[in-house]
Amino acid sequence: MAKHQIAVIKGDGIGVDVVDEALKVLDALAGKHGIEWEFVEFPWSSEYYFEHGEMMPSDGVEQLRSFDAIFLGAVGHPEVQDHITLNGLLLPIRRAFDQYACVRPSVLLPGVDSPLKDVKPYDIDLIVVRENTEGEYANVGGFQYRDFPDEVAVQSSVFTRKGCERVIRYAFELARERKKKVHVTSITKSNAQGYGMVLWDRTFDAVKEEYPDISTDSLLIDAACMDFIRRPQNFDVVVASNLFGDILTDIGAIITGSMGLASSANLDPTRTNPSMFEPTHGSAPDIAGMGIANPMAQILTSALMLDHLGEDAAADSVRSAVENVLETGEILTPDLGGSSTTTGVGDAIAALVA
Ligand code: NAD
Ligand code: IPM
Ligand code: MN
Repeated sequence: MAKHQIAVIKGDGIGVDVVDEALKVLDALAGKHGIEWEFVEFPWSSEYYFEHGEMMPSDGVEQLRSFDAIFLGAVGHPEVQDHITLNGLLLPIRRAFDQYACVRPSVLLPGVDSPLKDVKPYDIDLIVVRENTEGEYANVGGFQYRDFPDEVAVQSSVFTRKGCERVIRYAFELARERKKKVHVTSITKSNAQGYGMVLWDRTFDAVKEEYPDISTDSLLIDAACMDFIRRPQNFDVVVASNLFGDILTDIGAIITGSMGLASSANLDPTRTNPSMFEPTHGSAPDIAGMGIANPMAQILTSALMLDHLGEDAAADSVRSAVENVLETGEILTPDLGGSSTTTGVGDAIAALVA
C-alpha cells in the first residue's frame, strides 16, 4: 500500500467545487490501486485573507514543505486585487519550491468540439513547457512617488542562463520521452526584448546542439499565437517564458475545447521540493457558485499528480475515464455544450475509476 501525503488548497470560486470532485475521484480509485491518501486541507484563500489580512500564514511555505505534492484549485476574488491574492499565495509557492517547469498539455479529445474548423481528434496534441520561476514574473520592481502625478512603476524581467537552460533542457527531454513529433519550438520576443530573450535564444541554440535527434524551430510570440490558431497541428513541445507560456496555454485550452479541460503541473523536476498541481484556469467568478464548472481540468490535473507520484496505472485510469465521459457525451457541463453539473460529471468519472 503506497501512502501519499497531499496538501490541499481549494482556494476561491470554482476552485473549491472542482477540487472536491477531483478528491472524490482520487478517493474512488484508491482501493483498486493500493493507494492510501492523506489529504491535509489548508484553508488559504481570499476568505482567509478577509479574516487574517494575509493569504497564508508567514510560515505557509514551510508548512507545505514536507508534503509529497500540493493540490490546488484556483485563487482570485472579485473583491481583492489579483496582485494581492496571487502574490500572496500561488506565485511565492512556485518560486519557493523552485517549480521551474510548468507543464500544460493541450490535446483535442474525441467527443470535444474545437472552435477551429477542419481539426479532428488528436490533430492537436501539444504540450507547453512554461518557465515558471523567473522571466516576466520575477518579483522585481517598485513604485516611486506613489499616488503622485509623477508616479513611476518599474517592473523588471529577470532571465538567467541557469533558469533558461534548465527549462529548455526539460522541454527537449520531454520531446524525446513523448515520442510524438519529437520537435521543440522555442518562443520569445527577442526582436523587441533585446537582453533577456536574447539570452534565452542563445541558450536554446546551445542546448539544441546536444539533441541532434530532435528537430526545432524558434518563433516570435505574436506569430506563435497566430500559428496556435492557424496550424496547431504543427506543434509538439513548446517552450516559452513565464508570461508567454501563460498566454499561449489559454489559447491551447480553448482550441482543444474549454478552459475546463486544461490541466497543469508546476514541477520541481529535481524533486527537492514538493511540486504543485493546479489547472490552467482560474476561479471563474462569472460562474462561481452556480454548480456548473467543469471539474475535468482539475481531475486531469490529478492525473498529472498521479504521474508524478509514480502511480502510472491510476493516472491512466483517470484519463481513460475522462475520455470515456467525453466520448459518450451524455454527462457534460455547459462549457462543453451539456447541461450537467460539476458534481454530476465528478460522480460519473468517480464511478468509472472505482
Ligand atoms: P478564468 O480561467 O477563471 O476564467 C476564464 C473563462 O473560462 C471564464 O469565462 C470562465 O467561466 C471559464 N472557465 C474557467 N474554468 C472553467 C471551468 N472549469 N469550467 C467551465 N468554464 C471555465 O480566468 P479569469 O476570469 O481571467 O480569472 C478569474 C480569477 O482567477 C482572477 O482573479 C485571476 O487572477 C484568477 N486566476 C487564478 C488562477 C490560479 O489560481 N491558478 C489561474 C488563472 C486565473
Ligand atoms: C495561471 C494563472 C496565473 C499565472 C495567475 C493567476 C498569476 O493565470 O496559472 O495560468 O499567470 O501564472
Ligand atoms: Mn493563466
